[in-house]
Amino acid sequence: MTDFEKTRSLFYLPEGVIYLDGNSLGPLPLAAKQRVGKLMTDEWGELLIKGWNQAGWMMMPRRIGDRIGRLIGAAEGTVVMGDTLSIKVYQALASALELVPERRVVLSDSGNFPSDLYMAQGLIGSLGKGHELKIVEPEEVEAAIDETVAVVMLTEVDYRTGRLHDMKALTEKAHAAGAITVWDLAHTAGALPVDLSGAGADFAVGCTYKYLNGGPGAPAFIYVAPRHADRVRPALSGWLGHEQPFAFDLDYRPGGGIDRMRVGTPPIIGLAALDAALDAWEGVDMADLRRQSIKLCDLFVAEVEKRCPMLKLGSPRDGTKRGSQISFLHEEGYAIMQALIARGVIGDFRAPNAIRFGFTPLYIGEAEVLGAVDILEDIMTNRLWDTAEYRQRALVT
Ligand SMILES: Cc1ncc(COP(=O)(O)O)c(C=O)c1O
Repeated sequence: MTDFEKTRSLFYLPEGVIYLDGNSLGPLPLAAKQRVGKLMTDEWGELLIKGWNQAGWMMMPRRIGDRIGRLIGAAEGTVVMGDTLSIKVYQALASALELVPERRVVLSDSGNFPSDLYMAQGLIGSLGKGHELKIVEPEEVEAAIDETVAVVMLTEVDYRTGRLHDMKALTEKAHAAGAITVWDLAHTAGALPVDLSGAGADFAVGCTYKYLNGGPGAPAFIYVAPRHADRVRPALSGWLGHEQPFAFDLDYRPGGGIDRMRVGTPPIIGLAALDAALDAWEGVDMADLRRQSIKLCDLFVAEVEKRCPMLKLGSPRDGTKRGSQISFLHEEGYAIMQALIARGVIGDFRAPNAIRFGFTPLYIGEAEVLGAVDILEDIMTNRLWDTAEYRQRALVT
C-alpha cells in the first residue's frame, strides 16, 4: 500500500495554500532543492567541465529517461530526455511521417493542446509534400482512422476537460489501418498508470513539470518503440544524437536506438532537479495512485455540485474516463479563479470558460479537497469574484 503521508512530506507547500495546480506545475520537491544546490557547488563549482564525465552528466538524459520509462510502461533504453515538449512533438511526428511515406494525413482532435497542432502545421509547411492536418472532435477520432491516415497524433488526456482517450483501442485501430501513433502524455505521466508497451504505442512524448514535479521548464521526454528505434530518421539531427559525437565527423550518422533522438547539450541543472523529484515515486504503486486520484476527484465533483449549483461540470463524470483533473464551467471563470487564488486555493483557468483543478495524491488529500470547496462555496454564494480587479487578465492564466 502506498504511503501518501510519506510522499506528502517530500514536498514544500507554502503555509495557507491549497495547491490544486500540480497538473500545470508540480510543487517543489525538497530533494530537488538539495540536489540542485549540491550540483552547483560540488559538480559545476568543483568539477567544472570534468562534470560531463565524472558526475555522469552526459548520460543523465538516458538514465533519467529509464526512470520515467518505469512510470509509463516503457522498457529500458526506450526513453530519452531533452528539449521541450513542443520540440519532442515535432521530432516524433517527423519520424513517424517518414515511416508511412505514401500517405498524407495527420489525424488529430480538437482536444489536443494547441502547441501540438501548431508544431504539426509548421512541420507540414516545411516538408512541402502536401500533408494535411485533419482535426476532428475527440469522439470522432476512432471513426476517422482510415487508410488515408499516416499518423494519429493525440494527447491522451484533454488539457481542458481531463477526458481520457483509450490509448490501446485507438492504437490498435490505427495499426489495423496501417497508421502510426504519436501519443502526448503531458497530462498522463505521473497522473495515472500508462502501459506504452502493452498498448503497442509507436511514439510517445511528454513534459515533466506537471505531475512529475521537475520544476518550471523541466526537460521533456520521448519514447520510440524498439521496433522503430533503429530505423527512424531523426529530423533534428543534432550532434548528441550522432553515433560518435566526439568524432566530430562532417556527416551525420544516427546513434543506435533511442540515442538518436537526442539533439544538443542536455540541460543539466533541470535534469538534476527532475532526477531528485523522481525519488518521490519510489514505492508508489500506480494502481494506488489511480484509486486515490479518482476518489479525490469524485469527492470534489460531488461537493461542488451540491454546494455550487451555478457551476457546470466540464469533465467526464466517470472517473475511469478522465485523467487526474476536474474542470467546472462558468462564463466568469477567470474572475472566479482569481478570487480563489487570492484566498489561497490555486488552480487555473483555460479559455473560454473552464476553471481547472488538478488532484495529485502524492501531496493532496481529502482535507485539501474539502477546504477548497468551502472557499469556492463562499466565493460563489457571495459573488466575491465580481470585482474589476479579478477580471483583469494576467499574461499566464
Ligand atoms: C499536452 C501538451 N502538449 C504540449 C505542451 C507544450 O509543452 P512545452 O511548452 O513544454 O513545449 C503542453 C504544455 O502544457 C501540453 O500540455
